[in-house]
Amino acid sequence: MKFFVDTAEIDAIAELHALGMVDGVTTNPSLIKKSGRDILEVTKEICDLVDGPVSAEVIATEADAMITEGRALAKIADNIAVKLPLTWDGLKACKVLTGEGNMVNVTLCFSANQALLAAKAGATFISPFIGRLDDINLDGMELIEDIRTIYDNFGFETQILAASIRSVNHVLDSARIGADVITAPPDVIKKLALHPLTDKGLETFLKDAADADIKIV
Ligand code: G3P
Repeated sequence: MKFFVDTAEIDAIAELHALGMVDGVTTNPSLIKKSGRDILEVTKEICDLVDGPVSAEVIATEADAMITEGRALAKIADNIAVKLPLTWDGLKACKVLTGEGNMVNVTLCFSANQALLAAKAGATFISPFIGRLDDINLDGMELIEDIRTIYDNFGFETQILAASIRSVNHVLDSARIGADVITAPPDVIKKLALHPLTDKGLETFLKDAADADIKIV
């Protein structure tokens, strides 16, 4: 399973990238706003740092304008994935932009039928939002399961990019189900390393090392 980082914060991306944890990056207008950076500048910086796909989202809502914005974003670097909302216009723009050889990430997916349409429109990635479904007492993981089943039933090559990940359990469940990619905020990725028994075991080892006066260098 690939790890994308869901942020536009360069320092956070660089830290995880140095550990080989970054297969790609996803951004959206809210994350760009949070970074306080210019979208074109910060996206270029991310693309220079990371080899994998970097999703940059359009803000137009009408197909022709989305295509124009998508082409402008795609010019930033070869590893741009143009991010389009899952609307009828977004699907039209997806068909055109993928036809021109661009990677497209169709975002704001909340149903398996929407995911089916995105695959038929040639999307490179589909982004089902787990956390936002959980927020309204629906089951985000069930959506990932349904999309996995449907894509496997028909051999769709669109990659399932589990998004709106809020917890380490979302990552684990996405891996169990077989999502192709997860995109998670840096703090969730770092939390994957935590276990209380690791901390407890280390404490004992360090105490015993001190008691026995163990030295390595
Ligand atoms: O990748 C989509 C993600 O940024 C949305 O996450 O937590 O705002 O629902 P969230």
